[in-house]
Amino acid sequence: METCRTSAALRSHIAALRSRGLSVGFVPTMGYLHAGHMELVERAARETDRVVVSIFVNPTQFGDPRDLDLYPRDTDHDLAMLRAAGVAAVFLPEVAEIYPAGAETFVETTRLANMLHGAVRPGHFRGVATVVTKLFNIVQPDLACFGEKDYQQLQVIRTMVRDLHVPVRILGCPTVREPDGLAMSSRNVRLSPEDRQAALVLNRALGRAEALVAGGTTVEALAAAVAETIAAEPRATLRAVDVTEAETLAPVSGPVTGRLALMISAEFGGILLIDQREVQP
Ligand code: PAF
Repeated sequence: METCRTSAALRSHIAALRSRGLSVGFVPTMGYLHAGHMELVERAARETDRVVVSIFVNPTQFGDPRDLDLYPRDTDHDLAMLRAAGVAAVFLPEVAEIYPAGAETFVETTRLANMLHGAVRPGHFRGVATVVTKLFNIVQPDLACFGEKDYQQLQVIRTMVRDLHVPVRILGCPTVREPDGLAMSSRNVRLSPEDRQAALVLNRALGRAEALVAGGTTVEALAAAVAETIAAEPRATLRAVDVTEAETLAPVSGPVTGRLALMISAEFGGILLIDQREVQP
């Protein structure tokens, strides 16, 4: 496995793969890898000849500098996992490699970036779209895999790729859960045992919503039922429940008739967690 710290080194490694006619799959990450990331790596490996993974904790997608400082990191462990998974190359750039001194160019999906979770975390999706554009330009992969758990992020990236004519196929991969139903996230490690237990309410609320949709309901009743389930957990602070059209994330109302996205964000002991499910009658 090649470990590259500069774009030049990564580009030259990828050029060598390309010269042998090999296709390249890409999994961008912020490290502290778990089974959810490894599922993305496996999916990319099934679809392409060689997999490249980036590990970069992107400062422009964090509003709160404390959140950036506290983001968990364990590069040695990450590299061991990626080596065992047969990854061809890992890109481990410094901040100055991705954001050269004087960098002033940003990429923003103007509607999608500023609604829903983006309204709770101003600038977050602008940071994500910007870093993913830079990484796509460096790696130039055939395919890139993203988790559906970060549902709005996935739609932001799909939209950015469509709007900017980026020649890459985006694959959304299902959320991987712990055996008790908690969606895997690098943030879970920061939860106290009590908050981790309390966070199971997210998956419970999504299950309740799914049952309601199966029995016939309205968007308003669905959102209220989810909010009520979260409110019944005293350790949870609900930040948002959003029920939208599945692809455009456009607002919906009235009886649930088509495919919808249900997205929840809630804090547990100050740690913001998100979870989502697509629902359909
Ligand atoms: O989902 C993530 O880990 C990050 O938002 C991403 C896509 C790697 C961009 O920094």
